Amino acid sequence: MIHGELNLHTEAAASLEKLLPRLESAFAEQIAADPQAWLAFKQRLEEHFPALFRLYHHLYAARYDFFYHLEALLSELARAAFARPADLRALDAEREENPLWFQSNTMLGGVCYVDLFAGNLDGIRAKIPYFKELGLTYLHLMPLFRMPEGENDGGYAISSFREVHPPLGTMAQLAQLSRALREEGISLVLDLIINHTADEHEWAERAKAGEARYEAMYGIYPDRTIPDLYERNLREIFPDEHPGAFTWFENLRKWVWTTFHSYQWDLDYANPDVFNHMAGEMLFLANQGVEIFRLDAVAFIWKELGTACENLPEAHIILQGFNALTRIVAPSMLFKSEAIVHPDEVVRYISPEECQLSYNPLVMALLWNTMATRNVDLLQQALHSRFAIHPRTAWVNYVRCHDDIGWTFDDADAARLGINGSDHRRFLNEFYRGRFPGSFARGLPFQENPKTGDCRISGTCASLAGLEKALAEEGPAEVELAVRRIALLYDIVMTLGGIPLIYLGDEIGVLNDYSYLDNPAHKDDSRWVHRPAANAQSYSRRHDPASLEGRVYANMRAAIAFRKDHPELAGGALEALESGSSAVLMYARSCGGSRRLVIMANFSEQEQMVGTWAAQQNNLGAKKRLFGSAQPLENGAVRLPPYDFSVFG
Ligand code: GLC
Ligand code: GLC
Repeated sequence: MIHGELNLHTEAAASLEKLLPRLESAFAEQIAADPQAWLAFKQRLEEHFPALFRLYHHLYAARYDFFYHLEALLSELARAAFARPADLRALDAEREENPLWFQSNTMLGGVCYVDLFAGNLDGIRAKIPYFKELGLTYLHLMPLFRMPEGENDGGYAISSFREVHPPLGTMAQLAQLSRALREEGISLVLDLIINHTADEHEWAERAKAGEARYEAMYGIYPDRTIPDLYERNLREIFPDEHPGAFTWFENLRKWVWTTFHSYQWDLDYANPDVFNHMAGEMLFLANQGVEIFRLDAVAFIWKELGTACENLPEAHIILQGFNALTRIVAPSMLFKSEAIVHPDEVVRYISPEECQLSYNPLVMALLWNTMATRNVDLLQQALHSRFAIHPRTAWVNYVRCHDDIGWTFDDADAARLGINGSDHRRFLNEFYRGRFPGSFARGLPFQENPKTGDCRISGTCASLAGLEKALAEEGPAEVELAVRRIALLYDIVMTLGGIPLIYLGDEIGVLNDYSYLDNPAHKDDSRWVHRPAANAQSYSRRHDPASLEGRVYANMRAAIAFRKDHPELAGGALEALESGSSAVLMYARSCGGSRRLVIMANFSEQEQMVGTWAAQQNNLGAKKRLFGSAQPLENGAVRLPPYDFSVFG
């Protein structure tokens, strides 16, 4: 083993020695014009080539044309390095000095659709003052690349990575926008959809036209033999749309691997040509000023017969390979993984060498679980045993996003608390569909699978938290409870650590929008219920404390201000505490020897007590209340009003 590793190191050095002079002669002109860029590139290449070589070798060494592809990849890297604009090179240098910039307590994320939030890219630019008002430092714009007309999975079917979808603007506008955002301290985040392209992407079109090189970029099969073998072990992701993972195309007379929709063709990363093509697209976009890539559907990118084709080791190697490329050409770049899978698997994508950031789907789902059950045990357990990650990485903690909520907790974790996982998921689905007695939620089912009983939930934060029902059927008291639930959820993500992410609209409490049912391209996908267009009138009421928008917004602003004022909330170190009350979540945060903040969240509409023991253990008597309305009592216990969120420090 050690011998093998050593050999690989020697091989890497020998390969680079052969490749560098070839690069130098191929890029002689650019080197003469910009010797500084070449020097910086060469230095980073020498540093990171051994890692890149090891990963690439692992994936592709068995190919007779391995060395050809490796050389093509290095040329792609050199091209991108020379094309990198001066301001981004400066950013690279700055972040190499301060690599943990993303762990600051001033970090705050927001996510929105370009068209739904502001019409087009210029509209987004015009909203920069609003993003500043909120305090965003991270703006994720949902997929905005050229996409098919009609159905396109909200842009997750890409027809060209190098063109902006024409109604939204142009690539030049995108680059300008990224610069304008950067000048205001906001990093642009975009999706890199690596698992598939639209069936009308040029690569797919050329595959359809029978060009062998392009056909080899996808999973295309003449008959059912291979698909049948794979399907023995595959999960169905969008069973409403097509059964299994393959689609028959009559004009091609072939089966194509389509994990998601039929018009989303899975790329085949066993082919180094795919890796190289995607590397080129990624670096092109990095040079337009994207600072963070959200790597979409990473779990699915490697396929292996006899496995579920999810979370395979090679998927990680591909991501680490992409990470190494960014270290060489665009070192300020961060990756965020979108792995909405079992919690054991989610964390495997997180490391400085793979994805420095990751969605936290477990905490997200368990926040909603706790809202429904008023019992913090599962969430507390998750904070205790599944929250700590590598110190140079960060969770992106969120309440809602554009997708459905899947109940991705571990069944064994649940069993340890006496909870049966599948029964409990059934309960949660009933609760959030509003069918469980006493439920406050108005959610919709997504991809209900009668074969497996599986189901996920759609709905906006406000509608799931009870605001829609309270307004329609109940009264001011229930409205107030819903407003507090929304605040509680966001107060928690603002203080957990890592980067909190606001699904824009939530800050003013937008409700479900059922008009998607009138749109033929959306009506079969309930996720559109929580993707409404921003309503200018609602936003204009946000400073009016008498309006609903104003009430929700004031709470959000208070949580954000608190976060930004407290460096104790930086980083990701968290201590899960026992509150002594099944409805009160309790945790402590501190950063680098700073003061310890003790945080309590009451998930019930009843008043709750944090017992004397828990209060004493955490020295609450000697601390000041910095946020919320909890009241210490004579006997040392602490009383929390309904849905109260309090911080002592
Ligand atoms: C990701 C996206 C989701 C999309 C899927 C396929 O999971 O978040 O919206 O449907 O990938 O690209
Ligand atoms: C599946 C995928 C996830 C995606 C979701 C879209 O759960 O695992 O990546 O976000 O589908 O709804």
